[in-house]
Amino acid sequence: MTIRILAVSGSSRRGSLNQKLLDVAARGARGAGAAVTPVRLADYALPLYDGDLEADQGVPAAARRLQADFAAHDALLIATPEYNGGYAAALKNALDWVSRPRQDGTSGVALLAGKAAALVSASPGQLGGLRSQLALRTVLDKLGVLVLPDAFALGLAHEAFDDAAELKDKAAEKAVLHVGAALCRTARRLAAGS
Ligand SMILES: Cc1cc2nc3c(=O)[nH]c(=O)nc-3n(C[C@H](O)[C@H](O)[C@H](O)COP(=O)(O)O)c2cc1C
Repeated sequence: MTIRILAVSGSSRRGSLNQKLLDVAARGARGAGAAVTPVRLADYALPLYDGDLEADQGVPAAARRLQADFAAHDALLIATPEYNGGYAAALKNALDWVSRPRQDGTSGVALLAGKAAALVSASPGQLGGLRSQLALRTVLDKLGVLVLPDAFALGLAHEAFDDAAELKDKAAEKAVLHVGAALCRTARRLAAGS
């Protein structure tokens, strides 16, 4: 069976370093046989989660689209920038909306629980946004997402890519490709066991 992976970045910025890193990891997943769907959170135009908005208007159509996209995929490949030691608010907002009840009354959390995920991060700093991954892991863990130990944090990321958005350091590239491939293999094992 073909494993479907949703690739999502916490930064939709033009020239985003995290998006470039995510693209490399996605290539690794495709190399292992996965079908990868890259999505831009900015394209959903999600409102900030607000309980009053949900009570008055229901879960917004944008969030329902995101829920449907999560439902249609077996695994998650996530890149997150680090902002002040945490991970991107856009990602937290997206996870919060996905976790809300679906239109048919089924649980949004069920869209996340039991899915495999792999994380990458990129930062101009030395630690490559590693702290953001730790914070994101805690939240994904609470949601029942199975976060792989295979991950990559790219430090000095502003100097790491060439003009073709390829990683200059081939050892780093190999490690990032491995993250995507490991996610595909794990998702395949999970799918075979269900
Ligand atoms: C508000 C803000 C806070 C930041 N805090 C951190 C930080 O704590 N650690 C870090 O490594 N980089 C930090 N950065 C730098 C980001 O890692 C850098 O802007 C990165 O390129 C953002 O990811 P992107 O290129 O995918 O958009 C911060 C940037 C901003 C704008």
